[in-house]
Amino acid sequence: MTVNGSERDVDTAANATLLDFLRDGLRLTGTKECCDLGECGACTVLVGGRAINSCLVLAGECDGSDITTIEALAAGGRLSKLQEAFLATGAVQCGFCIPGQVMAAHHLLHRNPHPTIEEVREGLSGNLCRCGGYVQICEAVVAAGHLHP
Ligand code: FES
Repeated sequence: MTVNGSERDVDTAANATLLDFLRDGLRLTGTKECCDLGECGACTVLVGGRAINSCLVLAGECDGSDITTIEALAAGGRLSKLQEAFLATGAVQCGFCIPGQVMAAHHLLHRNPHPTIEEVREGLSGNLCRCGGYVQICEAVVAAGHLHP
């Protein structure tokens, strides 16, 4: 598969999830493991441009797919405008859910560059924040939409 623009050819166990493959096989630990049940969204990555919970997909099912993880968003060591917006609004508290929130928001902004607050709430409804930082997270995504060209 292609991960963050690089072709990766790694053997995995037949029952390894995409999350296992990314974290343990490729050491891309920005994608977080939390519920491991498809409930929290902490493990959100893009597969073929669609946001998915990587804990629910077998790595083998992604053979030949194009995968994007949180590590791809900070090109050249610079945070994306979306990531900057998360910092500027104080959306990052403990931080554990943030990679998944950012990937879900990245997917939303790709489909809808200028979402309303209601559209952001709906778009990120599969991503839980145990700190309860939803107001700032949604504000960050709306702000990033305003920065979008
Ligand atoms: Fe995948 Fe929670 S760890 S949805």
